Formats: sequence, C-alpha cells, structure tokens
Amino acid sequence: MKELAEILLTPEQIAARVQELGAEITADYQGKELMVIGILKGALPFMADLIRQIKIPLKYDLMAVSSYGASTRTSGAVQILKDIEMELEGRHVLVVEDIIDTGLTLKYLLNNLKARHPSSLKVCTLLDKPSRREVEIRPEYNGFAIPDRFVVGYGLDYAERFRELPMIGVLKPEVYEGK
Ligand code: IMP
Ligand code: MG
Repeated sequence: MKELAEILLTPEQIAARVQELGAEITADYQGKELMVIGILKGALPFMADLIRQIKIPLKYDLMAVSSYGASTRTSGAVQILKDIEMELEGRHVLVVEDIIDTGLTLKYLLNNLKARHPSSLKVCTLLDKPSRREVEIRPEYNGFAIPDRFVVGYGLDYAERFRELPMIGVLKPEVYEGK
C-alpha cells in the first residue's frame, strides 16, 4: 500500500490475536447467552472475524455512533446514529470496538447501554491507545496496545478511506496534507 508509511500489524498477526480473543471469550461465557454489539463502521471487519472464533451460540447487532468528522481529533460530541433492535435486559452484552483512544465514545455508549439493564456489560477492543485516555475505561478484552499514532486499515479509516485494507498501518504524512 503506497499510502502507508509503516505496517503495524499484518493480517496474520491480526488473525492470530482474534483467534486468542475468541478462545478467551468462549471460555468466559460458557453456559451464558452472549449478545455481541459491534460499533459501526470501524468494528465491522473485527467483529465479523471475532464472532467466528467464539464457539458458543450468540446473537449480534450493530450500533453506529458518531464522534469524529474527517479530522483525526475528537470533537467530543457523541451521537447515536443507529441503535440496536434487540432488548438488552437480562442479557450478557459484549461491546466490540475497533479502537479506544480518549475513551469518550465508549464512556458515553456504556452509560447508555447500562441504562438498559443488561446482566453484564463488557468491552472487547481490537486496539487500545492507553496513553491518550481522558476518561477511565478498561476493556476486558484488548487485542493490541499501540502507541499514539493514527492508524488505518481493518475497519479503521481516515476520512472514510482505507477501511478495506487487510493490515493495520500508519499513513504517510502527505495523505493528511492532501498531496
Ligand atoms: P475515542 O472516543 O477518542 O476513544 O475515539 C474512538 C473512535 O475514534 C474510534 O472508534 C475510531 O473511530 C476513532 N479513532 C481513534 N483513533 C483512531 C486511529 O488511530 N485511526 C482511526 N480511527 C481512530
Ligand atoms: Mg472512525
């Protein structure tokens, strides 16, 4: 990919870690009814791979929230653009996210979901940038902790581009500069 300055995670590394996360989740939710909620659009490839590595019956749904425009900085304002259709009361809910950065998006989302009285509420994120955290959020399942770099691929975008890449990488600066 000519736009990438560096590849952080190859498709093989991602697949191996997704398999491990799936095994962990499978063990932790034995005998429980699992409800997976993927956060659009970024978590889509991750969720699609993860659910096939979870070897217990589950249901899934999708939610869309918006907190970022075409910029790489958070605007702070979180909006639910698409809600789930299923009831969460009494269910074991696992929220699947692409990346936790400041944590603001997830903080808002978790508060919103908590108010629907699930039996349990946990988070599985593929990537975590712990150095950027502004609010206390600790994902129960975390694929990779990464440094404070803006990454794209495997669902992650820059201005809606690069989500389709099979790897995760850092963009060349000229992409931001529009050259
Ligand atoms: P937070 O509210 O700051 O935690 O932002 C989380 C959201 O910001 C993620 O779901 C992504 O959509 C976006 N985001 C944060 N860091 C990156 C990145 O490095 N690349 C692409 N999107 C990112
Ligand atoms: Mg995004």
